[in-house]
Amino acid sequence: MIKLLEKRPSGIDVLRLSNDYLEIDVMNFGCTILKMKTKDKNGFMRDVVLGYDYPEDYAQYDGYLGALVGRTANRIKNGRFTLNDKEYILAVNNGPNSLHGGIKGFSYVLFDYEIIGEKLKFHYLSKDMEEGYPGNLKLTTTYELKDDTFVASYEAESDKDTIVNITNHTYFNLNGIPSRIDAHELRIDADFFAIIDKYGLVTGEFMGVEKSPFDFRTPKEIGKQLNQNHEQLIIGKGYDHPFVFSEPNDQVTLYSPMTGIELNISTNLPQAQIYSANYLDGRLGKNGIPMYEKSGICIETQMMPNDINLHPNTSTTILKKGKRYESMTSYQLRVR
Ligand code: BGC
Repeated sequence: MIKLLEKRPSGIDVLRLSNDYLEIDVMNFGCTILKMKTKDKNGFMRDVVLGYDYPEDYAQYDGYLGALVGRTANRIKNGRFTLNDKEYILAVNNGPNSLHGGIKGFSYVLFDYEIIGEKLKFHYLSKDMEEGYPGNLKLTTTYELKDDTFVASYEAESDKDTIVNITNHTYFNLNGIPSRIDAHELRIDADFFAIIDKYGLVTGEFMGVEKSPFDFRTPKEIGKQLNQNHEQLIIGKGYDHPFVFSEPNDQVTLYSPMTGIELNISTNLPQAQIYSANYLDGRLGKNGIPMYEKSGICIETQMMPNDINLHPNTSTTILKKGKRYESMTSYQLRVR
């Protein structure tokens, strides 16, 4: 069932998707996921995502809690790229680089929406040269529940060649409160991860995960991995790296022994930025509880960040005029 919960004076509408397994609140501002509730091992409903008390708070902060991110996720080097021999200059908002779509990326815009049966469809028209990106881009985000699984799918088309790399930036904490994620178990089906520089930008080089704290090919306790000494963990202040998937589905599992809640992520995207909330700064979240670093984990399925500068002619982030961008990520929540 999908229902409109609240129309707020700010123009923000809050909607709820619910069934016997899940209750998910979202808003039309940034297609943001506000709450994701599921039963724990004792049958209590737990909200497993970090966020703020009021929908308007999301406009005031960075951190992209629960938000859809676009037109391109993560960093574009020096906020510049060349497409069809023309250089484009993007809004720079993160050191020398452009992060998460620029100063006012898709996380900070109001979407139109419609409810079609069990599907909630958000629409946004990103104008030609918005934040520096070419082409009028029509984006549709679809949220729907299929039993114990929340499915997010994205479709986009542009009237000029452009670049697109959409993700969702939800911070999961399966304990149901903003506490350290150390005791969570994580599995990532990735043999390689991408190396980052001191700005968090991918360099184009990869490292094998073997015998390193990046090896989550079998489930590992996050805290034990995080505490290991590794240059890339120091540079990133924790995990803040693209993990390249080895399989085409069921790539990530996160589990909290405390609540027994397990999250299974499956996507048709080639990788995920795994981000251990390294820059949460004690700001107040839901119920006035402060959120500190490592109190959530983002599993941002996407294509390779900055790929347009690494592979200017062949990048999978290029969306040709009239072609369709399509991606899908599903989030299954159940008790183990
Ligand atoms: C990035 C981080 C950044 C964060 C902002 C993540 O996707 O990889 O470097 O600080 O988003 O919340």
